Amino acid sequence: MNEFVRYYEENKISPVTQDISDINLHLRRRKHLYKMLGINPNSFKNSTILEVGAGSGYNSLVFLLMGANLDIVEPNSKGREDMVGLFDKFKIDKRRYNIYPCLIEDFTSNKRYDYVIAEGFLPAFKRKERQKILQALLRQTKKDTYLVLTTICEFSYFFEFLRVVLGLCLVKNIEDFQDKVQKLSKAFKSHLDALKFASRPIEDWVKDSILNPTNDYFSYSLKKCAKDIQKFSSSCGGGGEFEVISMSPNFISNLSWYKDMEYSYMQEIIKRFDDKKYLLLSTSFCEMRVDSKTNQKISKYVIKLRILVKEFRVSLSQEILKEIIVLLQDIINDCYGLGDFFIKSIQECISLLEESNKITEHKISLMPNFSKAWGRGQQYISFVKERE
Ligand SMILES: C[S@@+](CC[C@H](N)C(=O)[O-])C[C@H]1O[C@@H](n2cnc3c(N)ncnc32)[C@H](O)[C@@H]1O
Repeated sequence: MNEFVRYYEENKISPVTQDISDINLHLRRRKHLYKMLGINPNSFKNSTILEVGAGSGYNSLVFLLMGANLDIVEPNSKGREDMVGLFDKFKIDKRRYNIYPCLIEDFTSNKRYDYVIAEGFLPAFKRKERQKILQALLRQTKKDTYLVLTTICEFSYFFEFLRVVLGLCLVKNIEDFQDKVQKLSKAFKSHLDALKFASRPIEDWVKDSILNPTNDYFSYSLKKCAKDIQKFSSSCGGGGEFEVISMSPNFISNLSWYKDMEYSYMQEIIKRFDDKKYLLLSTSFCEMRVDSKTNQKISKYVIKLRILVKEFRVSLSQEILKEIIVLLQDIINDCYGLGDFFIKSIQECISLLEESNKITEHKISLMPNFSKAWGRGQQYISFVKERE
């Protein structure tokens, strides 16, 4: 069991439910995602899919409804229990799926799949553990397999890390897990409501985004992911070469041209990511001129914030909190070019953190700008294995 699964198992949770009361909307949302990733959802019919870390099976359900044959690797017992209930509710033929109760690193099969999909958990590990997971995923691929992964980095999770700090201050004197969840849910409900297309209940979001300690590892960028796949694909299962098909959000131009057979989008992402990563900080950002010096400064600040948040979660120390406030002030001073909304959002956090003992659910819920401030949290990236 890893730290991630331990957190879920200890609290008997699988906090990844989605509102699928309108199943057609759920289907549309998922199809839209896969179209963005350059994968025709109709091609799932009769295909073989390995879905790793499927949680409670809400995404798996769509693959099954679209006619795929699914092997699921899910180590968390509550998740497995939920997914069986969900598939039964939708009368899915049990012969169309297998559920393996283990970590992907311990999954042994000679089967090679048309799709290998791991959504929503790779960033929650330290580098070495993640690399083992990646190698295990790559072992199950063959020529033409599509591989779909997700990333989260300090840029895309910047506002979330600030919510973690506020949240930890709010519940620092509370022991009981459920009591923490209730209080945090009240505080952040207005924030989640500002996210127009959120499909997760607030309690699940709190358990997964504020209280899950493995979020403090979130340092896995699209660039690192592309580099990992490049590095491991050649050393895994007798070799192989992957190319990136697409990403969501798709913010790095793919300039491949039919005549240019040497162009690699994967290389382009690796090369251009650092210039463009500021776009992940806020959903309100469009392309703008951010010079490389500012980019580097922001990089330094957001990485430092993640490390301070990790320390703060453990110690809840006032000293660390002071360091966080100084860091936020530095961001305001150095990065005013990122615009009024960004700066005001941070100022609102500073105001609450400066009087951290007086933070209440009410104050958090009323933050006028910050309650609407979200980063482009999780990104998707799709690859295809071009050569064995
Ligand atoms: C946050 S949930 C994501 C659920 C779903 N894929 C989604 O995106 O909504 C991550 C899941 O990964 C599972 N997990 C964690 N480590 C794993 C590993 N090494 N192998 C397979 N699954 C793992 C956890 O049990 C958890 O259910």
